[in-house]
Amino acid sequence: MKQYRVAVIPGDGIGVEVTDVAWRVLQHAADDHGFSLRGEWFPWSCEYYLQHGRMMPEDGIETLRAFDAILLGAVGWPQQVADDVSLHGLLLPIRKGFDLYANVRPHRLLAGVEGPLRRGDFDILCIRENTEGEYSGAGGRLHQGTPQEVAVETSVFTRHSVERILRFGFEQARRRRKILASVTKSNAQKYTMVMWDEITHEIAAQYPDVAVTRYHIDAMAARFVMQPDSLDVVVASNLFGDILTDLGAAIQGGLGFAASANLNPAGDAPSMFEPVHGSAPDIAGRGIANPIAAIWSGALLLEHLGEPAAAADIMQAIERVTAQGMHNDPATETIARGVIGALGKSA
Ligand code: IPM
Ligand code: MN
Repeated sequence: MKQYRVAVIPGDGIGVEVTDVAWRVLQHAADDHGFSLRGEWFPWSCEYYLQHGRMMPEDGIETLRAFDAILLGAVGWPQQVADDVSLHGLLLPIRKGFDLYANVRPHRLLAGVEGPLRRGDFDILCIRENTEGEYSGAGGRLHQGTPQEVAVETSVFTRHSVERILRFGFEQARRRRKILASVTKSNAQKYTMVMWDEITHEIAAQYPDVAVTRYHIDAMAARFVMQPDSLDVVVASNLFGDILTDLGAAIQGGLGFAASANLNPAGDAPSMFEPVHGSAPDIAGRGIANPIAAIWSGALLLEHLGEPAAAADIMQAIERVTAQGMHNDPATETIARGVIGALGKSA
């Protein structure tokens, strides 16, 4: 029997609750489809930080490298650990350390889910550059705490990374509706974003079958609301993709429905799968977090491992549950049982 090793990092807050559900669903799907998932749990989180002074052990990245994939819940508990500390100590080092350069986030309405737009005719795949750009972490502060204080944060765009994220986007577009939107702000940011536009133009020449449109991020934000049906694959930088995917989550009914894959497309390190939402301290521990984003992320994990039938089965089970309106029940466990019960029953 085929066996995969998965590192499970529930993290903080509702991350723990939704990861538990996603893992149970994955186990059932694996049983049904004749493969096995061996999970190993890592308690790396803000609580871990309070005990050990770091979010994960020094050799954390090396430990994770041995796995086929990583399932992550959420990172952050700002009441106790500053967000810039927790995120730069766990989530961001994994994305950068394993070169998970493609952050892929699907935005569409699941059956029975009503979004705020009163329309359901969109199916967007956002592809966010995940290793550099505005989140490169390059910068510093001078004269801290004085009136002369200076803070500098440098956006870093390399030709190598811009080329590969766009190429990845074009490859996805080829498998979908052959429409690609490249998002920049090249009217105002005249170095990095102009280079991005130029590279878009170059790569587009290699994909004559894909229709490419360049948008500025501000216009794209409006388009997500006004004409989401005109979009298919959307490729954006780290910051722009971050913002657009929260908007994407909103139009698909909320963050509880937004899944994501952090991919190393070369396959030389484990990819990581996580819901877009964070740890949601306001509802943590109450058993009312929507686990669908985490379950959907689990389906993306199976697809990545090469188990597309099991992944499709999970998606059908999720939609059987949402089609019945079960997602309107606030209990995490209701949705969990619903999805597990619907597995393998879909046509
Ligand atoms: C996301 C999150 C993270 C990001 C934060 C928590 C650093 O917002 O995955 O979208 O911006 O990448
Ligand atoms: Mn975000």
